[in-house]
Amino acid sequence: MITSRATVTAGIFMPDWDLLLTDTRIATMSPDLPDYGVIEGKGAIAIRDGRIAWLGKQSELPGNDASERRSLDGCWLTPALVDCHTHLVFGGDRAAEFEQRLGGASYEDIARAGGGIMSTVRATRSASADELFAAALPRVEALASEGLATVEIKSGYGLDMDTEIRMLEVARRLGRESSVDVLTTLLAAHTVPPEYENDADGYIAFVCDEILPRVATGGLADAVDAYCESIAFSSSQVETLFRKATELGLPVKLHADQLSDSGGAALAAKYNALSADHLEYTSRVGVDALAASSSVAVLLPGAFLTLSETRLPPISELRDKGVPMAVATDCNPGTSPICSIRTAMMLAAHLFKLTPCECLAGATREGARALGVLDDRGTLEVGKRADIAVWAIDHPRELAYWVGTPQLAQRITSGHTTHS
Ligand code: NIG
Ligand code: FE
Repeated sequence: MITSRATVTAGIFMPDWDLLLTDTRIATMSPDLPDYGVIEGKGAIAIRDGRIAWLGKQSELPGNDASERRSLDGCWLTPALVDCHTHLVFGGDRAAEFEQRLGGASYEDIARAGGGIMSTVRATRSASADELFAAALPRVEALASEGLATVEIKSGYGLDMDTEIRMLEVARRLGRESSVDVLTTLLAAHTVPPEYENDADGYIAFVCDEILPRVATGGLADAVDAYCESIAFSSSQVETLFRKATELGLPVKLHADQLSDSGGAALAAKYNALSADHLEYTSRVGVDALAASSSVAVLLPGAFLTLSETRLPPISELRDKGVPMAVATDCNPGTSPICSIRTAMMLAAHLFKLTPCECLAGATREGARALGVLDDRGTLEVGKRADIAVWAIDHPRELAYWVGTPQLAQRITSGHTTHS
């Protein structure tokens, strides 16, 4: 495939590329090809202006002219990884609760006693923007060091105007000042803050009337999320929020059916949510609703593990009904202190029995779909961002198999090498 900025000199095609990667194996993860979307034999990718300008069999390369040419010695190329669900901006930690839970206390008990999310809210409210940024940057860079180029970051530990805005501003700053592209989500409807004790409706009204409009005007969030659960918000409160978000042109997503079947998956589907996340208690009705929508099922095995959950998300039903499944870390100090997308992939294989191919698709193509950016990234295809992970492996199945081994050889984001 040839794109427009090529020149023809004396009848010879000159492909004017910035970077040409050769001698590789390529797993495109394209939905139009089976499994990993492998290009058979030796492959090459040409990059221009930060985007993929050509890819295919090396023997079919239309030219060799590039500012830089890099032979990759048989390494595998995949799309750079995507983590579509994190809460990685927060103050403090919850290691003491971790010990309480190991001693038998439940997540709900701790939350009802004023701990849980509220304990992180207190620590986050008292942290400055610089403190939150300094704590979060190493988390983002840890994800980057595993071959990741896109992360979603939620607010939700402020639950007041100033702190929710501060969290989103810090997330935007992480996108500007780190090597990872950040998409932000307003999760002011994470739990009811003490200022609105016994008045969840009043808090939702405050979020809809004050926080959401300010966030929308400031361009601070790319989406709006909520926690639909007995310890958080009811379906009708979530609907009120979703209607307002939709009115303001913001896509929605939902923490759905994590601890009980609250009809969250169907609710997400009803509002064309980008994704419905967790889904351990989702019923057949919920799966059918997702199948009839374009929403992605986001699986969070780190939270499943940390909460010692035994009820599995309905994986085979989701698979059989063709619901796209993403895999994400849910990185947060309470239910998923895991800042490693490779670990999330490995856990999805072991705990949820996803195939290694589904794990990689879940942390590339389906993660991008869950963020509404699949047109732009998530697969290796001409025209997409040149966000590429270069792996020293023999087969992409290894990416859900090992964790902690140095398999990443290079990470290329928008055509620039940011790790080698
Ligand atoms: O995705 N479920 C709600 N929200 C987070 C947990 C946040 C926390 O406990 O701090 C989750 O699991
Ligand atoms: Fe979460």
